[in-house]
Amino acid sequence: MHRRDLRGLISRPTVAETYRFRESIDQCVTQLLEDADEALLAEIEPVLTLGLHHEQQHQELLLTDIKHVLAQNPLYPVFEEALVAGVADPGDGERGRPGSTTAATTSVPPQRFVEFDEATVWIGHDGAGFSYDNEGPRHRARSCHFRFRTGSSRTGNTLPSWKRAGYTRPEFWLSLGWTTVNEQRWRAPLYWVERDGAWWNFTLSGFRPVSEAEPVTHISYFEADAYANWAGARLPTEFEWERASSDLPITGNFVDDERFHPIALLANGEGPPSGRSDGALQQMFGNVWEWTRSAYLPYPGYRAGPGALGEYNGKFMCNQMVLRGGSCATSRNHVRATYRNFFQPEKRWQFTGLRLARDLS
Ligand SMILES: [Fe+2]
Repeated sequence: MHRRDLRGLISRPTVAETYRFRESIDQCVTQLLEDADEALLAEIEPVLTLGLHHEQQHQELLLTDIKHVLAQNPLYPVFEEALVAGVADPGDGERGRPGSTTAATTSVPPQRFVEFDEATVWIGHDGAGFSYDNEGPRHRARSCHFRFRTGSSRTGNTLPSWKRAGYTRPEFWLSLGWTTVNEQRWRAPLYWVERDGAWWNFTLSGFRPVSEAEPVTHISYFEADAYANWAGARLPTEFEWERASSDLPITGNFVDDERFHPIALLANGEGPPSGRSDGALQQMFGNVWEWTRSAYLPYPGYRAGPGALGEYNGKFMCNQMVLRGGSCATSRNHVRATYRNFFQPEKRWQFTGLRLARDLS
């Protein structure tokens, strides 16, 4: 196995060679499928299906890696022109404030908290259709009485935190987070730049003013947790998130929409449908992966399978936090309510954001 931090030392094929390699693999797989009898098809079908889902993960990583590379360029190149302009934030009680740096003036609906009773709930995939092994076994979990925010935290809500307290007040931070903030000299989410007193944001559509109505993104777990503390709330557990989303349609802003950036929910109903038809919970799928406060651990009874496929998820169940819901870089048909993404708490290059929760005593 190559050392990940030294993989730049490995020589790489040219683009032409890469396409040739891809073509040869496609031909081999097609041939295999054409020649396979029923028994062999039954054996390889699960592997091919897993491979296709894995390729969707590659596509998401390619997009976020491309963004990271372009962001190193001082000319801030445009990957794709923006499809949707920014909108103003009305200020909605989450320590929000009226928008001032946004390009358009369409209003966005206010957010609130909805209440969930204490209950025993089923967690994990029920076996219908594809899922990764880390989504099972399905099991029961205790969910406490809690309140859950109706939308993802917006940039406009988090701005006062970042400016006044976020990166200078250790009391809001986990110890390891505070160490990371100081070592990395963070003072804003990734891709934010302060210029002439205003915040700008590098997107795949180029450099543009921070839009306060958009879900905040490119933040680490440490920042999400610190912001929640500052806001007098907390991050939801992955079980709370799954309970809240289990009967929602998979709608939202995905890579299929080719926006490549989270979008605001508009009061006039513009934009893709997102969330419940009764309008209670919005933006549960797409836009930004939402950090949960749950460590990425095996569910009760989980055993990684034998061989290489068994290494797919189980070997990463250490030092990572669970994220839910998919992002604007995720394929729509890749995500499920039970889907568990995971990253180390300091990672910021994925489209990662948050949603607040609160305990009810
Ligand atoms: Fe891979």
